[in-house]
Amino acid sequence: MITRSVSQALGTGHNWQTRLEPGSILTTDAPTRKMSASRPGTASTGLYQHSAEWFDIRYAQKDYGAEVARFSRLAARVHPGAETLLDVACGTGRHLEHLRFRYTVAGLDQSPQLLGIAASRLGEVPLHEADMCDFNLGCSFDIVTCFFSSMPYLCDAERMRQSVACMATHLSPDGILFIEPGLTPSAYREGEVVHNFRRTPERAISWMYVMRREGSLAVWDIQWLVGTRDGGVTSFVEHEEFSLFTTEQYVTAMRDAGLDAVHHARGLHGYGALLGRAAPWSADEKAVIDDALAD
Ligand SMILES: C[S@@+](CC[C@H](N)C(=O)[O-])C[C@H]1O[C@@H](n2cnc3c(N)ncnc32)[C@H](O)[C@@H]1O
Repeated sequence: MITRSVSQALGTGHNWQTRLEPGSILTTDAPTRKMSASRPGTASTGLYQHSAEWFDIRYAQKDYGAEVARFSRLAARVHPGAETLLDVACGTGRHLEHLRFRYTVAGLDQSPQLLGIAASRLGEVPLHEADMCDFNLGCSFDIVTCFFSSMPYLCDAERMRQSVACMATHLSPDGILFIEPGLTPSAYREGEVVHNFRRTPERAISWMYVMRREGSLAVWDIQWLVGTRDGGVTSFVEHEEFSLFTTEQYVTAMRDAGLDAVHHARGLHGYGALLGRAAPWSADEKAVIDDALAD
């Protein structure tokens, strides 16, 4: 099998040292979290352990193309020279699918199942299987992104801080870190019963949970029902918990990582955004960010 550098694989002149086999998923030296086995009908602890194959249907109504168009407009204003981008917690690669036409991209996630779907979607884009709190790709990027409330899956503030620090060390000197933070404690709708249903010609899925809260953790036991033509109807339960970090916690983590942070309340689609970089943001640049994210 041929092994070649990212810059060769992508036909660019970037000085990236990571090596990859085209179309393969790379693992870093840092340990990845093990997912525990579970039986259908019982609660499982591995994130998306059973539902990975339903991830894209679950989020079918999310307009990744529109989000990336909005993000790219923002990035073009705040870092017009940016060429390389790492998407951390890239999931099934739906943002990268669009970003790769604008940047030389790479992705990272801890879920081998989601990365497998991303690999089939993205062809030769390098994908790294790693914990976002503890990775070293041996290269830097002009932009590092973490979209769609992925940071909250780090279930304590210390791991969130480690992750921000780790992402910051992968920024080029004038690089930008972009984080979509997720639900804050005040925005969390504790006690709400959530029910969703999607269908395609071949399958239907339904999932329901109560938005429970334990201290600063959101806790969901998601009851899934999945029906396929060949497999009939099956059910399983997945346990998800995530942190309700405050905006201040993110800003502090960025500052501790040596970044000046700007928080935009709306962000790409209403859930807020944080931008960090080593050089302080000027008042004019903050106005540019507001303008770029205004409708
Ligand atoms: C809500 S999904 C978002 C995925 C993707 N960014 C998107 O917008 O479709 C959260 C993602 O965070 C990833 N994730 C959770 N904890 C992680 C960790 N410690 N390290 C790396 N990825 C993690 C999950 O595997 C999943 O892909």
